[in-house]
Amino acid sequence: MTVRPSRADVARAAELIRDAEHVCFFSGAGMSAESGIPTFRDGLTGLWENYRPEDLATPEGWHRDPDLVWGWYRDRATRLRTVQPNAGHQAIAELGRRMRADGRRVSIVTQNVDDLHERAGSMVDAHLHGSLLGPRCEFCPYRGEPDLSLAAVRPSCPKCSSSLRPNVVWFGEVLPENEWTAASAAIEGCSLLVIIGTSGVVHPAAGLPMLAAEAGTPIVEVNPVRSALTDLATVHLPSTAAAALPDII
Ligand code: APR
Ligand code: ZN
Repeated sequence: MTVRPSRADVARAAELIRDAEHVCFFSGAGMSAESGIPTFRDGLTGLWENYRPEDLATPEGWHRDPDLVWGWYRDRATRLRTVQPNAGHQAIAELGRRMRADGRRVSIVTQNVDDLHERAGSMVDAHLHGSLLGPRCEFCPYRGEPDLSLAAVRPSCPKCSSSLRPNVVWFGEVLPENEWTAASAAIEGCSLLVIIGTSGVVHPAAGLPMLAAEAGTPIVEVNPVRSALTDLATVHLPSTAAAALPDII
């Protein structure tokens, strides 16, 4: 990709980070692209290229063919085990350590279902769309160990014998309340919002940056192209997560 932000914009973003008491990062699929995790639509390749997202990522798809849906998420969870956090994840984790040592705060709100922020050493405040690892019971509150997501055969709940399902939010489902509350609080309360790699079209998550904009909080966006959220940004860096984040941090 031959995109490069201006030096002035990089310096402005770095200065906003340096002056902030609380930096909140809001990440989407682009955050993990350079780790080799395909975005949702790119992901429907190989074995899965003949399926539609509605067959694989909706409650209707699950009820129609739970083994098929389980297999797709199992593949994604298996693939996740083979990739690593990129320089963008590392830079955010490093900033978190530095700011904590100064008595300041970094928070992370992600739409991603991977664990790459955590593996880079960050604590994630909210996984708005759940996680590929650690399935949950479709009926009771039981949540399985991360590795159970790699099971070849769709597992049953040890508590109630209903089926376990991926612990992700499908199209048409409500976001988990705890995650939503934590995400709103972080975005409303931060002194700088950094948006990375999200198209900003999947609601309700895409509405969260508006909370910062309404509070007058400065917003930095990292995305090689313009997104639905670019108009809210104080500074838009037309670059990738792994290139821009180490630069501004
Ligand atoms: N660095 C930064 N941004 C990137 C990079 C990169 N290396 N590569 C791509 N992008 C940008 C794209 O330009 C695009 O704007 O990342 C964005 C990815 O957009 P989407 O694929 O729509 O991902 P996201 O916004 O996270 O989707 C939201 O929709 O698929 C569902 O539940 C899923 O959480 C997901 C939600
Ligand atoms: Zn159960």
